[in-house]
Amino acid sequence: MNYRHAFHAGSFADCMKHTLLVWLIDALQAKPAPIFVLDTHAGAGRYDLDTGPAQRTGEWRQGIERLIEMPPPALGRYLGFIRTLGLYPGSPALIRAMLRPDDRLACCELHPDDVFQLRRLFARDPQVAVHQRDGWEALGGLLPPRERRGLLLIDPPYENPDEFADVVSGLAAAHARFGTGVLAAWYPIKHRAPVRGFFTALQQSGMRDIVAAELCLREPVLADRLNGCGLVVVNPPFRFERDTPPLLHALLEHVGRNERGAYAAVTRIADE
Ligand SMILES: C[S@@+](CC[C@H](N)C(=O)[O-])C[C@H]1O[C@@H](n2cnc3c(N)ncnc32)[C@H](O)[C@@H]1O
Repeated sequence: MNYRHAFHAGSFADCMKHTLLVWLIDALQAKPAPIFVLDTHAGAGRYDLDTGPAQRTGEWRQGIERLIEMPPPALGRYLGFIRTLGLYPGSPALIRAMLRPDDRLACCELHPDDVFQLRRLFARDPQVAVHQRDGWEALGGLLPPRERRGLLLIDPPYENPDEFADVVSGLAAAHARFGTGVLAAWYPIKHRAPVRGFFTALQQSGMRDIVAAELCLREPVLADRLNGCGLVVVNPPFRFERDTPPLLHALLEHVGRNERGAYAAVTRIADE
């Protein structure tokens, strides 16, 4: 486990994932019934972008800094959290900020330093459980939730080539236990071939009603570079396909550099 999210916090890929995360939670909270959110690969919870790893890579300067400097109105909801939460929020801090009194969050993380940070952030918080636990294994242990409504976020580091396959089996395992849940997984787009294989495996998994939201800064042909990223969503809330493309376009307009082959799109991978 070499991946440390602190180096990448605030990057364009983080902003894309968190913009959609906020949209998904808002959509689920349109109904008053409580929700459960499971963040299987949680990271440290929040990050100081001015010092340490984030400062060394400076990835956030091509991501959240551009959005904060010239905030696109379409991203107002997401950027409101960035402005008010103090330290730059990772997925756990963002989700926590959105919980209503009866909603719950469970975070899984394996790296001891990140678990330490998460436990400090959520000490004595009755709505948040922090597990030092394998996120894949937690899909069996923590699902289905008693609320029967909620969101799964799978956001692994993609350190090895098998991780696309792990995501497909993870989503399928979650779907078997929590078929009514909104199940989301982030993925990198370096070049097209692994993503094509990922979509084919999702289509062959037996799961229905799957969409993919993608943001690519340039044609994905350089396998050693993060050219773009996507979020697959199983059981997307009503209006996902209508409401999220403007968010992706606003992101592209601000974090992109008009490179050849850039695009933002939501496509359907499997019908309802
Ligand atoms: C991309 S980062 C998560 C970022 C976070 N979701 C966010 O948006 O702020 C992936 C995290 O997964 C953790 N990790 C790696 N393998 C894991 C596993 N099997 N179970 C749980 N966490 C894992 C890594 O330590 C890393 O912190």
